[in-house]
Amino acid sequence: MVGKAKSGSGEILQSLALPGCAARKWVPLPFECAEGQLACVGADVVAKCTNSGYWMEHIDECGERGLAQPPPPAHHRCAPASPAAHAVPMQPSASTPPRPKPRVLLGVNVDHVATIRQQRGTRYPDPVLAASLAELAGADQITVHLREDRRHVQDRDLDVLRRTVQVPLNLEMAATPAMVAIACAVRPDVVTLVPERRAERTTEGGLDVASQVARLAGLAAQLREAGIVVSVFVAAAEVQLRAAAEVGAATVELHTGEYCDAKGALHRQSHLDDLRRGAATAHSLGLRVAAGHGLDYHNVGPVAALPYVEELNIGHSLVARAVLVGFERAVREMRALLVPPFDPN
Ligand code: PXP
Repeated sequence: MVGKAKSGSGEILQSLALPGCAARKWVPLPFECAEGQLACVGADVVAKCTNSGYWMEHIDECGERGLAQPPPPAHHRCAPASPAAHAVPMQPSASTPPRPKPRVLLGVNVDHVATIRQQRGTRYPDPVLAASLAELAGADQITVHLREDRRHVQDRDLDVLRRTVQVPLNLEMAATPAMVAIACAVRPDVVTLVPERRAERTTEGGLDVASQVARLAGLAAQLREAGIVVSVFVAAAEVQLRAAAEVGAATVELHTGEYCDAKGALHRQSHLDDLRRGAATAHSLGLRVAAGHGLDYHNVGPVAALPYVEELNIGHSLVARAVLVGFERAVREMRALLVPPFDPN
């Protein structure tokens, strides 16, 4: 049985590239597993445990916990899955008690390095260089938002990041066919679908997945076929989380903006409780849980401590601190806040 908890689980691991499989997958280890066992990881990756019990080989996309899914299309570049007869789908339930938390993963969003560059139309500072420094300082993921208006990150940045970033590359983007075409050409490890409005200063609110399940399911399927893990940025509302599972997302990123903006301890606590419930619901649906937006060095602790939250994507506060103390130090200081015991303040 693969559902057994393991201390130290939840680390992000890079799967081994199988012969003929160009897609590099980074998957969490949500359970202890024996060599050779197959299981679904998150919502749409079948993984095979290797003898270390920690590394998993990416075998195949499997849809929504669909070990019985049809075989991948011919153009899928991964090697065929071995027989799934012993496969045991991961079926967490809401009643599963949260495990002791390992370190929370830090996705460093370098958008605002590009914002400074675009402000003057210079060639500096380069978000690619910032991403390298972030990696050296221990970033677990590099995140960029290629906005339709290209206000900060440019296509060139994404291309160069794809060729240079060693940790997973997470592309935030609008859920449009044009952006999906770019993603399928560039092949980031993860695509996070976000809402986008030209007039907004930054992303406002989560994506309304529930009102566009069929459309998003189509876009998510294209991304998965290109070997990209699909995440959706949503409010911590049950209807959105269920819809996220329905469209075939592997991960949900919970919108922490309202928690961060809340005035007063009571309001903040109530938004934190929403996030806590949302994380548990998402987990019970087999979704991996990330969170982000508006997090800074003072408000990140309680979010990092939430059960099931495995990853935080943080940009503005980190780049703002980097201006004063340097990028590597800013990343290290944030990373230190994501290690248990978490600072409750
Ligand atoms: N996560 C998502 C989905 C976002 O859209 C953003 C903003 O680009 C962030 C995280 C990072 O937010 P912030 O810059 O406020 O840390």
